[in-house]
Formats: sequence, structure tokens, C-alpha cells
Amino acid sequence: MAIQKVGVVGCGLMGSGIAQVSAQAGFPTVVCELSPEVLQKGLGMIQKFLQGGVEKGKVAPYVLDKTMANLKGTTRLEELKDCDLIVEAIVENLAAKKELFGKLDALGKTDAILASNTSSLSITEMSTFVKRPERFVGLHFFNPVPLMKLVEVVRTIRTDAAALQETRAWCVAIGKTVVSCGDSTGFVVNRLLVPYMVDAIRVFEQGLASRDDIDNAMKLGCGYPMGPLFLTDYVGLDTTYSICQIMFDEFKEERFAAPPLLKRMVLAGLHGRKSGRGFYDWSTNPPS
Ligand code: CAA
Ligand code: NAD
Repeated sequence: MAIQKVGVVGCGLMGSGIAQVSAQAGFPTVVCELSPEVLQKGLGMIQKFLQGGVEKGKVAPYVLDKTMANLKGTTRLEELKDCDLIVEAIVENLAAKKELFGKLDALGKTDAILASNTSSLSITEMSTFVKRPERFVGLHFFNPVPLMKLVEVVRTIRTDAAALQETRAWCVAIGKTVVSCGDSTGFVVNRLLVPYMVDAIRVFEQGLASRDDIDNAMKLGCGYPMGPLFLTDYVGLDTTYSICQIMFDEFKEERFAAPPLLKRMVLAGLHGRKSGRGFYDWSTNPPS
């Protein structure tokens, strides 16, 4: 196994899940956040998920302890300098990712694989921010990371075969199923999923049906585990909005355009589950 130690940057919804599954599979994992407060919140989400697993009888108590022991939280990027794989999971913003990859590139380990968990940005463009584009890949996980089996492993024209093979082997070692994909905006899943999610918002915005009827229609009519508005809350409205803008910019197709309601909800701070309110109120259990 070429990858022994893993770094994750960002300990939000996705970064916390990626750090968890890596540490749970036995890899020493360092996760970096901007501030101690946000870091503690992210590590708290991991602890809570594992604790929930213990209560459900799905996670053995020693696995919780072992996972937390394999995890190290930091706010200092330098602590990732000896990692063999670094997965970026910060906000969906190219300028922010460019700045971060510049810093990661300067850390020193020449053969580390750098990966982005971006939902929609170009892996090829990000690979130009680093000195070794042949060691740069897309690693697109799904939310919630500990429960979703899939990872899209994205190659660019420059990615070398060894880096891809090492990355795939790590994905398998953490219990994921890999789908290989070329670098096209949104890869496979979001190319198909994002128009569906934003169409549901348009249906709601146009008053065709209520929130609950739209979600129940897709759950009961199509067998989806979550309705599309509930899912958008789950993904994060801010993230969904950024994805729409990037995908619309790339394809210039109306089906990717952010509906005005989505923009207004983001402006109003209704970011979904992570902010406590989106299409649903997440302060109640179950969300109402
Ligand atoms: N620890 C361990 N296991 C747990 C757990 C925990 N804390 N919580 C739940 N589980 C287990 C359960 O025991 C259950 O296991 P079994 O199937 O063996 O019984 C399984 O996980 C499912 O859990 P629940 O029954 O509690 O919940 P559910 O059936 O409602 O499923 C879900 C939850 C898997 C999230 C499901 O609702 C789902 O698949 N939703 C869709 C999510 C989705 O589409 N994600 C993709 C978003 S798009 C994206 O990510 C890409 C992007 O770029 C935006
Ligand atoms: P999030 O807002 O929950 O978390 C992002 C975290 O990154 C925040 O905690 C923020 O403090 C941190 N951050 C920002 N800049 C940083 C930096 N320079 N160094 C360290 N930490 C930094 O967002 P998320 O939903 O976890 O999304 C993260 C990435 O994963 C995005 O690229 C998104 O498109 C992608 N993604 C999201 C989902 C989803 O369902 N939410 C699914 C797949 C992929």
C-alpha cells in the first residue's frame, strides 16, 4: 500500500466524513481546519456519528476509540507535510482552492498525491496550480461519507497511471466502490443529479406542489431514499448554489442555472442542515 498517511483539508460536512472513514480504516489521518472552533465542531461530528453507530450496534466501541486515536486535528497546514495523500475538502470556490494548493505544493513531499473533493470545479485546472500535475486527481465522495459507498476517481490528461492506481487502492482499503471518470464538470453523478435537484426547487418555487408533496412524490413514486428538497438541505444550499453557478458557467445550459429562490435562501443564510434551516427546520428531530 503506497498510501500510509493521509491528510484532509477542511473538516466541514465532507472533510469530517473523509477524515473519519480514513482513520476508521486504520490510516493515521491529519485533518486541518481554519480555526480551533470549526475544527472542534468537525471532530465533534465524527465523534457523534461513531457514537450513534455504537448505539445502533453498527460500530464496536473499540472502533470508536481506535478511529479517534488515528485522527489528529490541526489548524497548521505544515502538519500535513509527511502525508502520502492529501484530500482537499474546503469550500467550492476556485480562488480558495488555488491558494490552498499553492501552499500544499510548497510543503515539500515530492511524491504526495494531491486530491480535490470538488463537486464541480475542473480537476485539470486545479492540477495547474501545483508543480506535479501527474500526481493530482479528483476524489469525489458523497454525503454522508461514512454511509455512501461511492467515490468517483477523476483523472486528467496529465494524471499518471501509478497515482491513479495508488488512489484507487486507498479508496478500496477504506471500503469504497470506485467509479473511474474523466475530468468533465460534475463528473457522472452531479451531471445527472444537479439538474434534478434544481428542477425540484423550480417546481416548488412555481407552486406546483408543496415541499412535502414534492419530496414524497420522489420517495414513494421513484423509491429515492430522500426527496430532492430534503437532499438539497443535506448537501447544503450554499454548496448547491456554487455548484449550479460553476456548472452553468461551463455548459451554458439552463438546466444547471440556480433558481432565484435558491439564491435568495442562500443570501438569507438558510444553508440547510448545517445552518439549522433550509427547506426544513433542522432544530427538531425529525426535521419539520
Ligand atoms: N454509524 C454506523 N452506521 C450507521 C449510522 C452510524 N452513525 N447511522 C446509520 N447507519 C447505518 C444504519 O444502521 C443502516 O444500516 P443497514 O442498512 O445495515 O440497516 C444504514 O446506515 C442506513 O441508515 P438509516 O436506516 O438510519 O438511514 P436511512 O435508511 O434513512 O439512510 C441515507 C440514510 C444512507 C443517508 C439515505 O437516506 C440516502 O442514501 N440518502 C441519499 C443521500 C444522497 O443522495 N447523497 C448524495 C448527495 S450528492 C453528493 O454528495 C455529491 C455532491 O457533490 C453534492
Ligand atoms: P462545508 O462548508 O461543510 O465545509 C467546508 C470547510 O472548509 C469549512 O469548515 C471551512 O472552514 C473549511 N475551510 C475553508 N477554507 C479552508 C482552508 N483554507 N483550510 C482549511 N479549511 C478550510 O462544505 P462541504 O459540504 O464539506 O464541501 C466541501 C467540498 O466538498 C466542496 O468542494 C464541495 O463542493 C464538495 N462536496 C460537497 C458535497 C456535499 O454534499 N456537501 C458532496 C461532495 C462534494
